Amino acid sequence: MSLIHQTLAWQALEQHQQDLRGVAMRDLFAADPHRVERMQLSAAGLHLDFSKNLLTARTLELLSELAETVDLKTWIARMFNGEPINLTEQRAVLHVALRNRSNRPIQVGGRDVMPAVNRELDRIDAFVGLVRSGEWKGFLGQSIRDVVNIGIGGSNLGPKMVCTALGAYRGNELRVHFVSNVDGTHLLETIRDLDPARTLFIVASKTFTTQETMLNASSAREWFLAAAHDPAAIAKHFVAVSTNAEQVAAFGIDTRNMFGFWDWVGGRYSLWSAIGLPIALAIGYEHFEQLLEGAFAMDEHFRTAPLTANMPVLLALIGLWYANFWGARTHVVLPYDQYLRLLPAYLQQGDMESNGKQVTRDGVPVPYSTGPVVWGEPGTDGQHAFYQLIHQGTQMIPADFIGAIRSHNELGEHHPMLMANFFAQTEALMRGRSSEEAFEAMTRAGMAPERARLLAPHRAFPGNRPTNSLLMERLTPATLGALLALYEHRIFVQGVIWGINSFDQWGVELGKQLAGVILEELRDGRLSAEHDGSTQALLQRFLAGRAS
Ligand code: F6P
Repeated sequence: MSLIHQTLAWQALEQHQQDLRGVAMRDLFAADPHRVERMQLSAAGLHLDFSKNLLTARTLELLSELAETVDLKTWIARMFNGEPINLTEQRAVLHVALRNRSNRPIQVGGRDVMPAVNRELDRIDAFVGLVRSGEWKGFLGQSIRDVVNIGIGGSNLGPKMVCTALGAYRGNELRVHFVSNVDGTHLLETIRDLDPARTLFIVASKTFTTQETMLNASSAREWFLAAAHDPAAIAKHFVAVSTNAEQVAAFGIDTRNMFGFWDWVGGRYSLWSAIGLPIALAIGYEHFEQLLEGAFAMDEHFRTAPLTANMPVLLALIGLWYANFWGARTHVVLPYDQYLRLLPAYLQQGDMESNGKQVTRDGVPVPYSTGPVVWGEPGTDGQHAFYQLIHQGTQMIPADFIGAIRSHNELGEHHPMLMANFFAQTEALMRGRSSEEAFEAMTRAGMAPERARLLAPHRAFPGNRPTNSLLMERLTPATLGALLALYEHRIFVQGVIWGINSFDQWGVELGKQLAGVILEELRDGRLSAEHDGSTQALLQRFLAGRAS
């Protein structure tokens, strides 16, 4: 079977890229007053303007031919139908079932998963009701005031990001904290001022074997027992979220206090499952349901819209256009919304753990780029830090700008000023400013021509820097749900086109294994002779430093 770069569609895109190399986006706008009408799209409460890209109608045609070459529609159907498309782990990929608000049956191994999904949602609803109403009592008969989620990767980033993003929906009743790093500082700094009698720990781990989480959970249990003195009190203060009931019981958490999910939910796609428990505790179950509904609306759009008018597909194809045909190595996500400040970190796991792959599904090395480095910060902070490089650096950095028309915190001119920056940046990145324009502007302002001539190259902007603009009316649970589902499907589409498996993560294993071996050596103080010289020297220095 030929790889994607050997197909006619790919080769046509290579040729087309050559044709577009000298073309300026601003000329494309000038030549076509209707450009934006053809390059915008609304779905599930989100509006996407993708006209500020190095694209023509022909590019879009060729990109959708590429999608058809890999039979994308069939792949989408395969995912939604519960086929085991995560081949290396022989698993279905069904985070979409977790938010399947239509209840359309979805079969895995001949069984509809929806009854189990709904049962678990009902359990979450009931538990959240008890905790938020204060009916759930701790060992001294008091209500819960602090919730500490202990988990890492997908068992942390998603719920933490959503709790932050939906900060406007939080009441004062419960404070939700997240501990992920095995650095004891993280746990200690988090629990330092908490009252054990009013604290609920959620130990969140799909496998319930993750080193960092298990150690953090044990230390949290010790801290708790030092105050409660009674292991029976654990039942009121520790709940688990996992797929592994055996390990949960072995840890000492009553499995009646366990919320389950399934092996067909990838860690980085799990916030829609019981891993979202801290979200429901923070903002209430109804809002959690609205988050699911927003994601479902995007799922339905993705599943049914034609490829050429399909938001996740378009975003995926545009991203791939730059990664594979223009040499872009990174992709920046720029939320113009303080509540979305953790979105880039969340998307880093979603995208890079999914598409940071070097072999195809058949194990053949890929000779083209796969997932780019994903990064970002909220605007306008980023503008005063790294935008310089995006505007005038030597590499192309495609950017997603994300913002809302209304803020939850309308404070004087703040929101218009924030969004003025959003719009100005995308315009500046697209239009740029030539040396001549810079020269003219400086001389018009009264600068001597010699000085202006010297400065002009420094003050010129190449422009032609691509951006997508995503606008929503307001950041709500539903629009956030749609936004996250949009990125999930973008990742999926790119993975399908690259021919890789986006749903395993073997790349994290080697480091984990070696850490286990080294931890044993640090415990014994005896180093294996098999380490390389550098690692050996570092370990010796570490041991010697701790012994002195
Ligand atoms: O780092 C790898 C990983 O397996 C992620 O994919 C996952 O989200 C994270 O570890 C945590 O895993 P678990 O939920 O099993 O503790």
